[in-house]
Amino acid sequence: MTIMAAASREGKVLSDVVFAAGAAAREAAALYGEDKVVNATVGCYAGEDEKLACLPVVEQLYRSLPMSDFITYAPPIGLEGYRKAVIDETFEDCRPEGYVDAVATSGGTGAIHIAIANYSEYGEAVLTTDWRWNIYDCLCREIGRDLHTFSMMDDKGRFNTAAFSAAVSNILRCQDSLLIILNTPANNPTGFALSDEEWADVLEICRLHEKNGKRISILVDIAYIAYAGEKNRVRSFMKQFAHLPEHIFTMFAFSMSKGYTLYGQRAGALVGLSSSKDVIEEFANLGKYSARTSWSNINRAAMTLMTKIRSDRDLIAQLDLERMRFAQSLRRRADIFTYEADRCGLSYVPYKGGFFISIPTKKSAAVCHELQKDLVFAGPLAQGVRLGVCSIPEDKMKGLAATVKKALDTVEGTNDLMVAGK
Ligand SMILES: Cc1ncc(COP(=O)(O)O)c(C=O)c1O
Repeated sequence: MTIMAAASREGKVLSDVVFAAGAAAREAAALYGEDKVVNATVGCYAGEDEKLACLPVVEQLYRSLPMSDFITYAPPIGLEGYRKAVIDETFEDCRPEGYVDAVATSGGTGAIHIAIANYSEYGEAVLTTDWRWNIYDCLCREIGRDLHTFSMMDDKGRFNTAAFSAAVSNILRCQDSLLIILNTPANNPTGFALSDEEWADVLEICRLHEKNGKRISILVDIAYIAYAGEKNRVRSFMKQFAHLPEHIFTMFAFSMSKGYTLYGQRAGALVGLSSSKDVIEEFANLGKYSARTSWSNINRAAMTLMTKIRSDRDLIAQLDLERMRFAQSLRRRADIFTYEADRCGLSYVPYKGGFFISIPTKKSAAVCHELQKDLVFAGPLAQGVRLGVCSIPEDKMKGLAATVKKALDTVEGTNDLMVAGK
């Protein structure tokens, strides 16, 4: 075998089991007909016709933009109107007091990358939940960080504050600083969300360590927040970030992929919030530097679109209404699944909203394999099986819980795992 890559890069292969399952679903659809196949692997919202959906107000405005918006360079830090719009949408009416800035990034992925690069040390640990978007692992590994996880839920289906506290203490025994990533509300892959009380516990734990001289950065990944529920209710936790000590820094990974159905247009932002002006100035400088050296600048047309929508009350109202319709459809699909799961005794991670529902199992690959015999294609994750409610129409949701239960029982006997259904 001829090797040309640098020694440090050898053996880096992206293994994406969810994409592989998606390819199998497409093959099955070609063979048996689309109506026979449930493709639960997709992470984008599809309507009841199973076609990728675009929010109408986004499509109409995007198509009306002049060519110059698509071809002109943008500043690396992002257009000023866009950065303001991102900050407004991140917080809505729940903006905490403090210094705030935003850096445009290549989607939410770019925001997470910048946060890891600038707020964790090379060779050190970054902390997140065990139920997580598996790309966090790659994003950390790519730049020499080590992703550690803690158990997201306790045995009552609540955020596992004790496990979080233990993990933070453990890591901070060997490190002076720590980056914590929490994907909430509408967690991928579970639909779980931390309550305001659970957030208060998280911040209390961080404060204790800060008092002992540690520096803590918290990255809240809000990629799916647009479909998590009423916009100010799902953001109420953010108010707690006001007046945190200077050495607790909060960031938000904002994405236009889901909230604007612009997945391929690669627009997002990293938003920073601090009680210290210096921290925010440093954040903007670092972010600009990272952006310029990673992707240079992002899609100007997407930034213009968001700026236009956010500066017009009627357009905001229209967007809210259209998003609500998508969210209601997600809720109906999830309700069918959870109702049937409760009836047939299938355990699932408490779902509060968003694109995905997950079934805990240690044998996810075998369960997904078994499901394929019934032409159901799902993503096998380390903690369980992920079902993309976002892309399964209501009539295909019917009976799905029983099919999953059957596959689980076949693979592991009875489904009596740790997490209670509700
Ligand atoms: C949890 C989570 N965060 C962030 C992202 C980033 O998405 P994008 O880079 O398309 O904005 C995704 C995409 O699937 C995600 O699932």
